[in-house]
Amino acid sequence: MAGTMATSRTNDGSFAPFELEPVGPLSLHPAAHGLHYGSACFEGLKAHRGEDGTVRLFRARDHAQRLAGSAAGLCLPVPDPEWITEMLHAVVAANLDEVPDPPGALYLRPTLLGTDPNIGAATHPSREALLYVLASPVGDYVAADRPLTVAVETDLPRTTPQFGGVKAGGNYAMALGPTERARRELSAHQLLFAPKGFVQEAGPANFLLISDGALITPPLDGTFLAGITRDSVLTLARDLGDQVEERPLLVDELLDRSATAEAALVGTAAVLAGVGTLVYGDQRVRVGDGGVGPRTQRLREALVAVQRGVAPDHWGWTEPVAPGG
Ligand SMILES: Cc1ncc(COP(=O)(O)O)c(C=O)c1O
Repeated sequence: MAGTMATSRTNDGSFAPFELEPVGPLSLHPAAHGLHYGSACFEGLKAHRGEDGTVRLFRARDHAQRLAGSAAGLCLPVPDPEWITEMLHAVVAANLDEVPDPPGALYLRPTLLGTDPNIGAATHPSREALLYVLASPVGDYVAADRPLTVAVETDLPRTTPQFGGVKAGGNYAMALGPTERARRELSAHQLLFAPKGFVQEAGPANFLLISDGALITPPLDGTFLAGITRDSVLTLARDLGDQVEERPLLVDELLDRSATAEAALVGTAAVLAGVGTLVYGDQRVRVGDGGVGPRTQRLREALVAVQRGVAPDHWGWTEPVAPGG
């Protein structure tokens, strides 16, 4: 964990100016709403050190916007995305020495928690909240050349449909049991949720199939997280002249196409992680040649080049962090 965090508490529902302080325990009432009734959400984004030495936040404003959306979904005080972005810049600037060289990055974890000390408020929102931003140097979560084994779950959704677009801790807690079972019983790295046979998303990332020259991924319908990496990859792919199909994808079609396709998990942590094997029931289905496919590698390289300031950023995704914040 990097040494400095930023914190802000609300007063009468309005956020106070944030403060930078050493990372340490927080003072929280044991009856805090977020601890009992799950009024808690978070974000995950990265700052990358470029070859020129400049540190750049990647799509900070989009992550801030999504945090504000999650806050609204949980009926918490909603922080202003512009102000969250300022807070992110300040935290990166305060921890600039701890941003690793590529392929590492500084991972940022804004967290929002309902703090009303009222265990009687099961059906009432928290009026007060605590927002804090942690930073942590990270390496590559999944090595670029290591294909994943992904089990397909067609009975259970990852979370409830109305909460799929909210980055709430409870969503992750719901997915733990089935994911652990897939690890233990099927030797899978991750679980791909496909309730009623429709592919949705994996536990920590969105899903992409690359088949017959097209990128195929389920359309955003609110039942799963609108990944910012997903959006970046689809944008880059269109720019490279690839065909993009945002449409429902059935598990049957996925399995039918697998032998000649590529598949990837896409997300801030995964970047683009190639899927080499799908496990469905008692079938183990190889995707392509079982390795990380060339299109997956090419898209990953294109994304990483923008993040590191090596390729031009036509979309205003990257923001250099000034040493003073
Ligand atoms: C459930 C889930 N879906 C998708 C994603 C990908 O989102 P993003 O690309 O914004 O990191 C994540 C990662 O944050 C996730 O946890």
